[in-house]
Amino acid sequence: MARLALVVFSQTGITFRQGEVLSDILRIPLIRLEPQQPYTTADIDWHNDKCRANREMGDEYSRPGIKPLPLPEDFDLLFLGFPLWWGTAPRVVDTFVEASDLKHKKIALFATSGSSPADQSARDLQKLLPETKILDAQRVNGFSRKKLEEWAEKMISEADNEADQKGS
Ligand SMILES: Cc1cc2nc3c(=O)[nH]c(=O)nc-3n(C[C@H](O)[C@H](O)[C@H](O)COP(=O)(O)O)c2cc1C
Repeated sequence: MARLALVVFSQTGITFRQGEVLSDILRIPLIRLEPQQPYTTADIDWHNDKCRANREMGDEYSRPGIKPLPLPEDFDLLFLGFPLWWGTAPRVVDTFVEASDLKHKKIALFATSGSSPADQSARDLQKLLPETKILDAQRVNGFSRKKLEEWAEKMISEADNEADQKGS
């Protein structure tokens, strides 16, 4: 069965709460993705064009620094959670995926948002990770524990099927 890892970036705690439930369901630690320079309230005032978050999101090459994080070496499937910022993953997530060795791994994305769907984040991250299989991007606002569990099981079984097909 796929070996798992769970990484979450959450600025105001909403994605983190769903990540904690997943951590409990999967019985693996939640690894927090944290920016080197924490975001202040003013930094994420997204109604202000000039706030730090909006400036970063407006620049596809922006890669804000992140704190080192204890990603296990041996995993097959990464559950990666974040809030949607301007319809996609925050740039700190880009920093993380580019700095980590995710070649030949599978990723299941989960996100929370005010209303935006998560699909765009999968397309954007897939471009950064041509050799990684992104299985899904699921918006998990309001997901019950049962619904999260069902989704996680589906992701694990997809990861296992892929591995079987490759004969690994
Ligand atoms: C900079 C910024 C941009 C955002 N852009 C969107 C957006 O495009 N669509 C949306 O539905 N919500 C957007 N939101 C709202 C967050 O996605 C939402 O509040 C999310 O659940 C916060 O998760 P967190 O508590 O884990 O940080 C944005 C929030 C911020 C701070």
